[in-house]
Amino acid sequence: MPIIDIKEAMPGMVLSKNIENEENGITLITSGTVLNSRIIERISSIGIKYVHIFQKIEEDKELLIVEEEYELQETHKEFADKTKKLLHSIQLGKKPVITEISDVMDDLINQVTKSNNVLGKLRQLQKESDYLFEHSIKVSMLATMLAKWLNYSNKDLKLIGYAGVFHDIGKLKISHDILNKAGKLNSREFEIMKKHTVYGYNILQDTIGVSKSVALSALQHHEREDGSGYPLGFKSEKIHEFAQIIAICDIFNAMTTDKVYKSKQSPFKAAEYIARCSFNKLNPRIARVFLDNISKFYVGNVVKLNTGDIGEIILIHKNEPTRPVIKVGEGFVDLLIEKNIEIEEVIN
Ligand SMILES: [Fe+2]
Repeated sequence: MPIIDIKEAMPGMVLSKNIENEENGITLITSGTVLNSRIIERISSIGIKYVHIFQKIEEDKELLIVEEEYELQETHKEFADKTKKLLHSIQLGKKPVITEISDVMDDLINQVTKSNNVLGKLRQLQKESDYLFEHSIKVSMLATMLAKWLNYSNKDLKLIGYAGVFHDIGKLKISHDILNKAGKLNSREFEIMKKHTVYGYNILQDTIGVSKSVALSALQHHEREDGSGYPLGFKSEKIHEFAQIIAICDIFNAMTTDKVYKSKQSPFKAAEYIARCSFNKLNPRIARVFLDNISKFYVGNVVKLNTGDIGEIILIHKNEPTRPVIKVGEGFVDLLIEKNIEIEEVIN
């Protein structure tokens, strides 16, 4: 893996080593980032003279990246088609045959875990008209990625992938009116909605080839560490770790996706909410790994602030990953200091 002078860096080259702040070791740009002129300019402007890249001539690499993205898109499409069929047959009261999605789940896990920019790709993936369906697929991908960051075995990655796809399967038994209500549910409706956890557990328990951990994830993904969740009000030690992983990915994806009754929020707002919940409602260790890793993806992204300013994320603080430093024009806005400023939108 060659080291090159930053003056020789060209768009399309791929970093093979993180670029870190020399003083505090904070990662500024992660390995795997594809350089563009904006990023090259920024690297030079902070005084970095040399960068590690995968190879000097990047045509092959670029091709590889395009191929990788194409592969992920194709696999996602196949995964989506097969999962849709499976969910549809459950809706019709048939017993699901889990082996039908086993191979494509393997492919998806492979690609999600080797890719350096799953979050970016998640944003690009085809939008589905059916929120529940799209949500299930995306939670599955996020959960697999998080499980990889937590160093789970390949066997567990697959189980967590299934747990993501099926966590809300019980909603197939909730009426359309409640599921798609354009507004807050009243208490009667909410009581009905809560039952999707138990319905999901029952469906999955009855399905041949489904691990108990996957069924428990459907049952427990709305349980919270302090016992304030549902359906049973279990506390931390009684909640299966897979369900704790799904809970975080469920919240993150729900908050960052447009819904009938609420428009999406920025990933940083979702991350801040998760950070707040990690004090009492979400597993703090898992939340920490999620926040640390997910924030790094956004270095180099252009964002819109609630002040109306547009800027670029240039630094993620190690201990406060949800409050990065933004370069706006010639100046810098440190969200760690400017407590009232928020990232409203990630533009690209
Ligand atoms: Fe749910």
